[in-house]
Amino acid sequence: VSPKYKILRQQDLIPARQLPSALIIGVKKGGTRALLEFLRLHPDIRAASSEVHFFDHHYLKGFHWYRHRMPPTLEGQLTMEKTPSYFVTPEAPRRVQHMNPGTKLIVVVRDPVTRAVSDYTQVTSKHPGLPKFENRAFINGSQVVNTNWTPLRIGVYSRYLERWLEYFPLSQFLFVSGERLIADPVIEITRVQDFLGLKRVIMEKHFYFNSTKGFPCLMKSEKSAVPHCLGKSKGRSHPFIDPTAIRRLRDFYRPFNQRFYQLTRMNFSWS
Ligand code: A3P
Repeated sequence: VSPKYKILRQQDLIPARQLPSALIIGVKKGGTRALLEFLRLHPDIRAASSEVHFFDHHYLKGFHWYRHRMPPTLEGQLTMEKTPSYFVTPEAPRRVQHMNPGTKLIVVVRDPVTRAVSDYTQVTSKHPGLPKFENRAFINGSQVVNTNWTPLRIGVYSRYLERWLEYFPLSQFLFVSGERLIADPVIEITRVQDFLGLKRVIMEKHFYFNSTKGFPCLMKSEKSAVPHCLGKSKGRSHPFIDPTAIRRLRDFYRPFNQRFYQLTRMNFSWS
Protein backbone atom coordinates (compact mmCIF):
# COMPACT_ATOMS: atom_id res chain seq x y z
CA VAL A 1 0.00 0.00 0.00
CA SER A 2 1.33 3.40 -0.89
CA PRO A 3 2.32 5.30 2.30
CA LYS A 4 0.09 8.18 1.30
CA TYR A 5 -2.94 6.04 2.14
CA LYS A 6 -3.52 5.72 5.86
CA ILE A 7 -4.77 2.30 6.77
CA LEU A 8 -7.96 2.69 8.77
CA ARG A 9 -8.24 0.22 11.57
CA GLN A 10 -11.66 -0.82 12.70
CA GLN A 11 -11.29 0.94 16.07
CA ASP A 12 -10.72 4.26 14.25
CA LEU A 13 -14.28 4.07 12.96
CA ILE A 14 -15.91 3.31 16.28
CA PRO A 15 -16.53 6.38 18.42
CA ALA A 16 -14.98 6.12 21.88
CA ARG A 17 -14.90 8.47 24.85
CA GLN A 18 -11.54 10.01 25.70
CA LEU A 19 -10.30 12.18 28.53
CA PRO A 20 -9.94 15.79 27.36
CA SER A 21 -6.62 16.82 25.88
CA ALA A 22 -7.48 20.53 26.10
CA LEU A 23 -9.36 22.42 28.78
CA ILE A 24 -10.84 25.88 29.03
CA ILE A 25 -9.95 26.46 32.68
CA GLY A 26 -11.22 30.01 33.12
CA VAL A 27 -11.96 32.64 33.90
CA LYS A 28 -15.54 32.85 35.04
CA LYS A 29 -17.35 35.60 33.04
CA GLY A 30 -14.38 35.93 30.72
CA GLY A 31 -16.29 34.75 27.65
CA THR A 32 -15.70 31.02 28.15
CA ARG A 33 -19.11 29.93 26.84
CA ALA A 34 -18.75 32.02 23.69
CA LEU A 35 -15.32 30.52 23.02
CA LEU A 36 -16.55 26.96 23.46
CA GLU A 37 -19.63 27.55 21.28
CA PHE A 38 -17.40 28.96 18.54
CA LEU A 39 -15.00 26.01 18.82
CA ARG A 40 -17.83 23.53 18.50
CA LEU A 41 -18.08 24.51 14.85
CA HIS A 42 -14.80 22.71 14.25
CA PRO A 43 -15.32 19.14 12.98
CA ASP A 44 -12.20 17.97 14.84
CA ILE A 45 -13.41 19.23 18.24
CA ARG A 46 -15.92 17.46 20.44
CA ALA A 47 -16.75 19.08 23.75
CA ALA A 48 -18.71 18.14 26.84
CA SER A 49 -21.96 20.09 26.70
CA SER A 50 -22.05 21.31 30.30
CA GLU A 51 -19.42 22.23 32.87
CA VAL A 52 -18.26 18.94 34.38
CA HIS A 53 -16.54 20.38 37.51
CA PHE A 54 -14.35 17.28 37.74
CA PHE A 55 -11.14 18.87 39.04
CA ASP A 56 -12.96 20.86 41.73
CA HIS A 57 -16.15 19.05 42.86
CA HIS A 58 -16.06 15.51 41.48
CA TYR A 59 -12.39 14.52 41.51
CA LEU A 60 -12.95 11.64 43.93
CA LYS A 61 -15.26 9.99 41.38
CA GLY A 62 -12.16 9.16 39.36
CA PHE A 63 -11.01 9.41 35.75
CA HIS A 64 -13.37 6.68 34.60
CA TRP A 65 -16.35 8.80 35.71
CA TYR A 66 -14.81 11.86 34.06
CA ARG A 67 -14.21 10.08 30.74
CA HIS A 68 -17.84 9.02 30.68
CA ARG A 69 -18.93 12.66 30.86
CA MET A 70 -17.14 13.25 27.52
CA PRO A 71 -18.76 12.87 24.10
CA PRO A 72 -17.61 9.97 21.91
CA THR A 73 -14.90 10.88 19.43
CA LEU A 74 -13.39 9.38 16.31
CA GLU A 75 -9.67 9.02 15.71
CA GLY A 76 -8.19 12.48 15.16
CA GLN A 77 -10.94 14.36 17.01
CA LEU A 78 -9.95 16.34 20.05
CA THR A 79 -11.91 16.16 23.31
CA MET A 80 -12.47 19.39 25.26
CA GLU A 81 -14.17 20.53 28.41
CA LYS A 82 -14.67 23.90 30.04
CA THR A 83 -15.15 24.60 33.72
CA PRO A 84 -14.06 28.17 34.56
CA SER A 85 -13.69 27.48 38.29
CA TYR A 86 -10.65 25.27 37.60
CA PHE A 87 -8.50 28.38 37.25
CA VAL A 88 -9.04 29.38 40.89
CA THR A 89 -9.19 25.88 42.42
CA PRO A 90 -5.97 25.27 44.42
CA GLU A 91 -5.88 21.51 43.72
CA ALA A 92 -6.71 21.76 40.01
CA PRO A 93 -3.18 22.27 38.59
CA ARG A 94 -1.80 19.18 40.32
CA ARG A 95 -4.85 17.11 39.43
CA VAL A 96 -4.81 18.12 35.75
CA GLN A 97 -1.09 17.37 35.60
CA HIS A 98 -1.79 13.97 37.09
CA MET A 99 -4.36 13.26 34.34
CA ASN A 100 -2.01 14.33 31.56
CA PRO A 101 1.03 16.61 31.89
CA GLY A 102 0.59 17.48 28.19
CA THR A 103 -2.90 18.96 28.64
CA LYS A 104 -3.39 22.21 26.72
CA LEU A 105 -4.83 24.96 28.87
CA ILE A 106 -6.91 27.85 27.57
CA VAL A 107 -7.70 30.85 29.74
CA VAL A 108 -10.08 33.56 28.57
CA VAL A 109 -9.30 36.73 30.49
CA ARG A 110 -11.08 40.04 30.67
CA ASP A 111 -10.47 43.34 32.45
CA PRO A 112 -10.88 42.25 36.09
CA VAL A 113 -13.04 45.28 36.95
CA THR A 114 -15.55 44.53 34.16
CA ARG A 115 -15.33 40.85 35.07
CA ALA A 116 -16.24 41.64 38.68
CA VAL A 117 -19.24 43.71 37.59
CA SER A 118 -20.29 40.90 35.24
CA ASP A 119 -19.97 38.36 38.05
CA TYR A 120 -21.99 40.60 40.40
CA THR A 121 -24.65 41.10 37.70
CA GLN A 122 -25.00 37.33 37.38
CA VAL A 123 -25.37 36.89 41.15
CA THR A 124 -28.00 39.65 41.45
CA SER A 125 -29.96 38.19 38.55
CA LYS A 126 -30.36 35.04 40.64
CA HIS A 127 -30.72 36.79 44.02
CA PRO A 128 -32.34 40.20 43.55
CA GLY A 129 -32.17 42.69 46.40
CA LEU A 130 -28.53 42.12 47.30
CA PRO A 131 -26.44 45.11 48.49
CA LYS A 132 -25.08 47.45 45.82
CA PHE A 133 -21.80 46.54 44.13
CA GLU A 134 -20.04 49.55 45.69
CA ASN A 135 -21.14 48.43 49.18
CA ARG A 136 -19.71 44.95 48.71
CA ALA A 137 -16.50 45.99 46.98
CA PHE A 138 -15.16 48.12 49.86
CA ILE A 139 -14.93 47.23 53.54
CA ASN A 140 -17.53 49.06 55.71
CA GLY A 141 -17.87 52.06 53.40
CA SER A 142 -14.11 52.69 53.52
CA GLN A 143 -11.74 52.87 50.55
CA VAL A 144 -10.25 49.49 51.40
CA VAL A 145 -10.94 46.93 48.70
CA ASN A 146 -12.71 43.84 49.97
CA THR A 147 -10.37 41.25 48.49
CA ASN A 148 -12.27 38.45 50.21
CA TRP A 149 -15.31 39.15 48.07
CA THR A 150 -15.26 36.44 45.39
CA PRO A 151 -16.11 38.69 42.42
CA LEU A 152 -13.00 40.74 43.24
CA ARG A 153 -10.76 37.88 44.34
CA ILE A 154 -11.07 36.01 41.03
CA GLY A 155 -9.68 39.04 39.17
CA VAL A 156 -6.24 38.73 40.76
CA TYR A 157 -5.25 36.53 37.82
CA SER A 158 -1.51 36.56 38.52
CA ARG A 159 -1.99 34.84 41.87
CA TYR A 160 -3.78 31.88 40.29
CA LEU A 161 -1.54 31.72 37.24
CA GLU A 162 1.55 31.49 39.45
CA ARG A 163 0.06 28.36 40.96
CA TRP A 164 -0.61 26.80 37.53
CA LEU A 165 2.91 27.65 36.36
CA GLU A 166 4.32 25.45 39.13
CA TYR A 167 2.85 22.50 37.23
CA PHE A 168 2.76 23.50 33.54
CA PRO A 169 5.15 25.42 31.27
CA LEU A 170 3.91 28.67 29.76
CA SER A 171 4.00 27.04 26.30
CA GLN A 172 1.04 24.86 27.29
CA PHE A 173 -1.20 27.86 27.95
CA LEU A 174 -3.12 30.03 25.56
CA PHE A 175 -4.49 33.29 26.90
CA VAL A 176 -7.49 34.55 24.98
CA SER A 177 -8.50 38.18 25.29
CA GLY A 178 -12.15 38.33 26.33
CA GLU A 179 -12.36 41.86 24.91
CA ARG A 180 -11.02 40.81 21.52
CA LEU A 181 -13.26 37.75 21.48
CA ILE A 182 -16.12 40.25 21.30
CA ALA A 183 -14.48 42.89 19.09
CA ASP A 184 -12.84 40.47 16.63
CA PRO A 185 -13.71 36.84 17.31
CA VAL A 186 -11.91 35.60 14.18
CA ILE A 187 -8.50 36.72 15.45
CA GLU A 188 -8.97 34.90 18.73
CA ILE A 189 -10.51 31.76 17.24
CA THR A 190 -7.64 31.55 14.75
CA ARG A 191 -5.13 31.71 17.60
CA VAL A 192 -7.01 28.94 19.39
CA GLN A 193 -7.16 26.67 16.32
CA ASP A 194 -3.41 27.18 15.76
CA PHE A 195 -2.65 26.48 19.42
CA LEU A 196 -4.65 23.25 19.28
CA GLY A 197 -2.87 22.22 16.09
CA LEU A 198 -6.09 22.21 14.09
CA LYS A 199 -6.83 23.34 10.56
CA ARG A 200 -8.22 26.89 10.39
CA VAL A 201 -11.80 25.90 9.68
CA ILE A 202 -13.66 28.50 11.74
CA MET A 203 -13.38 31.84 10.02
CA GLU A 204 -14.99 35.15 9.10
CA LYS A 205 -17.94 33.58 7.27
CA HIS A 206 -19.13 31.85 10.45
CA PHE A 207 -19.79 35.09 12.32
CA TYR A 208 -22.07 38.08 12.03
CA PHE A 209 -22.54 41.00 14.38
CA ASN A 210 -26.04 41.10 15.85
CA SER A 211 -26.72 44.75 16.61
CA THR A 212 -29.74 43.99 18.81
CA LYS A 213 -27.65 41.76 21.05
CA GLY A 214 -24.54 43.88 20.61
CA PHE A 215 -22.33 40.80 20.25
CA PRO A 216 -20.95 38.56 17.53
CA CYS A 217 -23.24 35.63 16.83
CA LEU A 218 -22.92 32.50 14.73
CA MET A 219 -24.33 31.97 11.24
CA LYS A 220 -24.89 28.35 12.27
CA SER A 221 -23.95 26.22 15.23
CA GLU A 222 -23.20 22.59 15.95
CA LYS A 223 -26.90 22.00 16.63
CA SER A 224 -28.68 24.49 14.40
CA ALA A 225 -28.33 25.59 10.79
CA VAL A 226 -29.88 29.02 11.40
CA PRO A 227 -28.08 32.14 12.69
CA HIS A 228 -28.07 32.25 16.44
CA CYS A 229 -26.66 34.16 19.41
CA LEU A 230 -25.71 33.02 22.88
CA GLY A 231 -28.55 32.91 25.43
CA LYS A 232 -29.89 35.78 27.55
CA SER A 233 -27.49 35.05 30.42
CA LYS A 234 -24.54 35.96 28.16
CA GLY A 235 -24.19 39.65 27.38
CA ARG A 236 -26.33 41.09 30.15
CA SER A 237 -26.42 44.84 30.67
CA HIS A 238 -24.44 45.86 33.73
CA PRO A 239 -25.68 48.24 36.46
CA PHE A 240 -24.24 51.74 36.73
CA ILE A 241 -21.25 51.73 39.12
CA ASP A 242 -19.93 54.88 40.78
CA PRO A 243 -16.90 56.01 38.69
CA THR A 244 -14.89 56.64 41.88
CA ALA A 245 -15.35 53.02 42.87
CA ILE A 246 -14.27 51.92 39.40
CA ARG A 247 -11.16 54.14 39.62
CA ARG A 248 -10.23 52.68 43.00
CA LEU A 249 -10.63 49.17 41.72
CA ARG A 250 -8.48 49.96 38.69
CA ASP A 251 -5.77 51.24 41.05
CA PHE A 252 -6.09 48.08 43.10
CA TYR A 253 -5.72 45.73 40.13
CA ARG A 254 -2.95 47.65 38.30
CA PRO A 255 0.04 45.90 39.95
CA PHE A 256 -1.59 42.49 39.65
CA ASN A 257 -2.37 43.14 35.99
CA GLN A 258 1.24 44.18 35.38
CA ARG A 259 2.43 40.96 36.99
CA PHE A 260 -0.03 39.00 34.85
CA TYR A 261 1.31 40.68 31.67
CA GLN A 262 4.81 39.78 32.78
CA LEU A 263 3.93 36.13 33.41
CA THR A 264 1.97 35.70 30.17
CA ARG A 265 4.31 37.91 28.10
CA MET A 266 1.18 39.58 26.75
CA ASN A 267 -0.23 43.04 27.27
CA PHE A 268 -4.01 43.06 27.59
CA SER A 269 -4.16 46.88 27.85
CA TRP A 270 -6.56 46.99 30.78
CA SER A 271 -6.31 50.53 32.09
P1 A3P B 1 -21.67 39.75 30.34
O1 A3P B 1 -22.95 38.95 30.39
O2 A3P B 1 -21.33 40.37 31.61
O3 A3P B 1 -21.64 40.74 29.20
P2 A3P B 1 -18.77 33.33 30.55
O4 A3P B 1 -19.36 32.54 29.42
O5 A3P B 1 -17.33 32.97 30.79
O6 A3P B 1 -19.63 33.29 31.76
O7 A3P B 1 -18.69 34.84 30.09
C1 A3P B 1 -19.83 35.62 29.88
C2 A3P B 1 -19.42 36.83 29.10
O8 A3P B 1 -19.07 36.45 27.77
C3 A3P B 1 -20.49 37.85 28.91
O9 A3P B 1 -20.47 38.71 30.03
C4 A3P B 1 -20.09 38.55 27.60
O10 A3P B 1 -19.55 39.83 27.79
C5 A3P B 1 -19.01 37.65 27.04
N1 A3P B 1 -19.14 37.32 25.63
C6 A3P B 1 -18.08 37.20 24.78
N2 A3P B 1 -18.49 36.93 23.56
C7 A3P B 1 -19.85 36.87 23.60
C8 A3P B 1 -20.85 36.62 22.61
N3 A3P B 1 -20.51 36.39 21.34
N4 A3P B 1 -22.14 36.65 22.99
C9 A3P B 1 -22.46 36.90 24.29
N5 A3P B 1 -21.57 37.14 25.28
C10 A3P B 1 -20.27 37.11 24.93
